[in-house]
Amino acid sequence: MADSEPITPGQVSFLLGVIPVFIAWIYSEFLEYKRSSLHSKVHSDNNLVEMGEVKTKEEEVAVLLEGGGLPRSVSTRFYNSPVKTNLIRFLTLDDSFLIDNRATLRAMAEFGGILFYFYICDRTSVLGESKKNYDRDLFLFLYCLLIIVAAMTSLKKHNDKSPITGKSILYLNRHQTEEWKGWMQVLFLMYHYFAAAEIYNAIRVFIAAYVWMTGFGNFSYYYIRKDFSLARFTQMMWRLNLFVAFSCIILNNDYMLYYICPMHTLFTLMVYGALGIFSRYNEIPSVMAVKIASCFLVVIMMWEIPGVFEIFWSPLTFLLGYTDPAKPDLPLLHEWHFRSGLDRYIWIIGMIYAYFHPTVERWMEKLEECDAKRKNSIKTSIIAISSFVGYLWYEYIYKLDKVTYNKYHPYTSWIPITVYICLRNSTQRLRNFSLTLFAWLGKITLETYISQFHIWLRSNVPNGQPKWLLCIIPEYPMLNFMLTTAIYVLVSHRLFELTNTLKSVFIPTKDDKRLLHNVLAGAAISFCLYLTALILLHIPH
Ligand SMILES: *[C@@H]1O[C@H](CO)[C@@H](O)[C@H](O)[C@H]1NC(C)=O
Ligand SMILES: *[C@@H]1O[C@H](CO)[C@@H](O)[C@H](O)[C@H]1NC(C)=O
Repeated sequence: MADSEPITPGQVSFLLGVIPVFIAWIYSEFLEYKRSSLHSKVHSDNNLVEMGEVKTKEEEVAVLLEGGGLPRSVSTRFYNSPVKTNLIRFLTLDDSFLIDNRATLRAMAEFGGILFYFYICDRTSVLGESKKNYDRDLFLFLYCLLIIVAAMTSLKKHNDKSPITGKSILYLNRHQTEEWKGWMQVLFLMYHYFAAAEIYNAIRVFIAAYVWMTGFGNFSYYYIRKDFSLARFTQMMWRLNLFVAFSCIILNNDYMLYYICPMHTLFTLMVYGALGIFSRYNEIPSVMAVKIASCFLVVIMMWEIPGVFEIFWSPLTFLLGYTDPAKPDLPLLHEWHFRSGLDRYIWIIGMIYAYFHPTVERWMEKLEECDAKRKNSIKTSIIAISSFVGYLWYEYIYKLDKVTYNKYHPYTSWIPITVYICLRNSTQRLRNFSLTLFAWLGKITLETYISQFHIWLRSNVPNGQPKWLLCIIPEYPMLNFMLTTAIYVLVSHRLFELTNTLKSVFIPTKDDKRLLHNVLAGAAISFCLYLTALILLHIPH
């Protein structure tokens, strides 16, 4: 039974850490409440305040005058004092410190509360579980319904200007990529919820498209902004891995259960490395060609030569190893090899597309200025060719069975992606419009991906694949679907915002020394908590 699973030191240290934060937050809310009621008193009846309260009142008025509570002063004060002082002020429940950092404490407490909810949903029998059930008709009905709703309520025309040419963006703008992420994510999630095994191959293409976007987005960013700073890099890693790290600790899971995270981390690192090494020469085309060729070379060596992958990654088995309780006989690194191998080339394709993006953009601008007859014939032929290629791919690759398809996938996933890009941008109209509902969902893909395992579906045991559905309203599958989905999407969106709030507090943008201090302090605190938890668990009951 799920409840009898032993408690891990990680879970205990999380509790040890989150309880003081929670108490401090409640206390800071109380202080704030007292202060604001005092504040109104100061203005209304100054004389009625009793003698004993005068001192505290003066102190608090001083805090008020300094502007405590305003975000600007919070951050400067928090940043200006050393980490150790902050920690001591936190532990001694220093009033002004708590009031200043109330927002941060609230964010941390909320983050902890959400993780607690994860545990309750997935690992206790407080809420029930039900079986997955696939019905193609229902699946398509729900998805089409969502598209109709999105089209009716959130179709928007954009008029963005390109940073390069100053004209309106012709292709691959942010709204479009986010919308693209969004509609794929919905299908990906519904595939899990309804166990829609028949669209397995399409899901593989969607994952490839995410990795393509990682290559594309990161290449464009580093190539144009040239910002290889430690702060920016840490922020990116924080965004990708903070939440997943906590999920692993609280639910006693391996990192590889959430394979999207290690995969994107790896490919982000590869793009960062490819552009960051000798970044001064990035503008020279031949250097870039050599860099891209080296990326291919690295991938070929790692994945195509048998044995190299295992030797290279075996020191990191503790991090990337994974055993599915349902298939305990596979080697530890099998999952990592399989998942990273499927999309080994597509991030490089994304980089290449990003490199030629300005060229294509100029080319498309010229096309728009052509006379109507020529323009239309070129466009029609592009649409015809793409559709034909897409059809061939569908007929001869997509329709293969799952195992055979996976063999071809690394070499062919660029075809449907390219076809989609061509068709999606074929006319000015199509380019300018996007469905913002899907774009909104596209922003929180990472959070919806991780949360689904525990508060939408259910895995029940550590490292288990989510085979069941979370059931809050038994006997009413559709009503239950609606309720769990609403909570799930709301929680995912909150997690997205909390991750960003905490990022801006703990990762200063322009102060590497402070960043280093924060990292060291974080490591020291985690270590102490973990040690205490170990000792606590070893005290005989
Ligand atoms: C076309 O649209 C897609 C997506 O939605 C976008 O990501 C892509 O960059 C665009 N490409 C072209 C060539 O128009
Ligand atoms: C780089 O890729 C990661 C993973 O997909 C993504 O989260 C991040 O936003 C990308 N960075 C940029 C600048 O696009």
